[in-house]
Amino acid sequence: MKIHTLLSPLNADELYFTGKTVVVIDVLRATSVILTALKNGAKEVIPVGTIEFAMKVSGNAFGGHTILGGERNTKKIEGFTFGNSPLEYTQENIEGKSIILFTTNGSKAIVKTKFAERTLIGSFFNLEALAEFLVSLNNDVEILCSGANGMFCLEDTVCAGKLIRKIQKLNGEIELTDASKASIELNGVFGKNIGEMLRNAEHGKKLIENGFEEDLDFISQIDIWDIIPRFESSVIKIMNNDEENK
Ligand code: MLT
Repeated sequence: MKIHTLLSPLNADELYFTGKTVVVIDVLRATSVILTALKNGAKEVIPVGTIEFAMKVSGNAFGGHTILGGERNTKKIEGFTFGNSPLEYTQENIEGKSIILFTTNGSKAIVKTKFAERTLIGSFFNLEALAEFLVSLNNDVEILCSGANGMFCLEDTVCAGKLIRKIQKLNGEIELTDASKASIELNGVFGKNIGEMLRNAEHGKKLIENGFEEDLDFISQIDIWDIIPRFESSVIKIMNNDEENK
């Protein structure tokens, strides 16, 4: 089992992911939002790469029973029902709904993996569940950090490093690429206090400036849920036991 970490989506095109097992991470905040929405009973999340496409999908597809969520420059987009704070995606707000999600980095990174054999969604919330599943699968894994506008970001890499450490503890035999080794080291330095790491990260500071400090506290929780969302046929749903055997 070999684990490679893409420190940003920039250097991989859609075909790079063909036939691979991929874990997409966007800690601040897209994948944390997706996990929260699905945990709180959303039917599915439909990630999209452009706002125009989000509008189009909300009009015609899924019987028109969709709500729009996401952000531009961290803020809710005009005409959208929700922004990109996980705290908005409460059971009361989203139970049973299909959510079309557009975000600056995360939703685009997920869409980029559409040719993958298997795309799984990760954040600090579900690392143990992911590690156990990936070890049972025993395939090579690509961890895709969504980054920030094509650049490296600390929080996704620390999260990737923490996931790899958990996999390593379950399976000592794994092979690591240089980027995966670097992620583990960054987790060693910055991963001891996730709340502090998020507050000091560039995007974390921007979120605090824009009034989303509470999101950072929520998002810093580790292994609170054992769900694994999977992106398949354009939608993200919680993977069930039958799918785990695929
Ligand atoms: C993104 O996809 O770039 C993020 O989720 C932005 C944000 O913090 O809302």
